[in-house]
Amino acid sequence: MPLILETIVSTRDARGRLNFAPMGITLQGERILLRPFRGAVTFDNLRDTGEGVVHFTDNVLLFARCAVSSAIPPHHSARKVRGAVLEDACHWKEFVVESSDLGEERARFWARVVAEGRGRDFAGLNRAKHAVIEATILATRLGLLGRQRALEEVARLRPLVDKTGGPEEHEAFAFIADHIAGWTDAR
Ligand SMILES: Cc1cc2nc3c(=O)[nH]c(=O)nc-3n(C[C@H](O)[C@H](O)[C@H](O)COP(=O)(O)O)c2cc1C
Repeated sequence: MPLILETIVSTRDARGRLNFAPMGITLQGERILLRPFRGAVTFDNLRDTGEGVVHFTDNVLLFARCAVSSAIPPHHSARKVRGAVLEDACHWKEFVVESSDLGEERARFWARVVAEGRGRDFAGLNRAKHAVIEATILATRLGLLGRQRALEEVARLRPLVDKTGGPEEHEAFAFIADHIAGWTDAR
């Protein structure tokens, strides 16, 4: 089984507009496999412009904001691709898509790393950060899960944030919990 790493991917559309979104990726040496769902802006951008930047960061507020809003966090230009590099990344890989399989609901884009960079140290493993990531995934699947089920999961995850989180984790969890609480299920 390949290791799936939770990252934030920046891409641009054909008009040059930037997008940041959390994406699970797998690394195979200098190759990256990205699997955006059809309907995600990242899917359209990878298909249309074929390049971007994968970021590794423990800043869970970035995951929360980029997942459920069109937030454009602080960034600077990438070196080899037209993408953007997050200011608060621990490290990142600029990539160019080499091939794709768009046949299924969840696409496969195989990309080659063309540049890499390092920012700051990784803070360390933390249960509150993990809880925010899990809650954020729920927030992106509300259409499938439904509000009630997601709220139950949020209640289960909340003690991890209360016990072990710092200000960033508290803010991120509150942001995601509010988003879920404000969701209206389709009838
Ligand atoms: C940790 C994490 C991993 C995610 N991985 C994926 C993924 O691999 N593919 C995908 O389509 N969506 C994934 N999502 C959900 C997207 O981030 C979410 O649907 C987002 O709104 C897509 O943004 P976009 O439309 O700007 O591309 C993930 C969310 C989180 C929080």
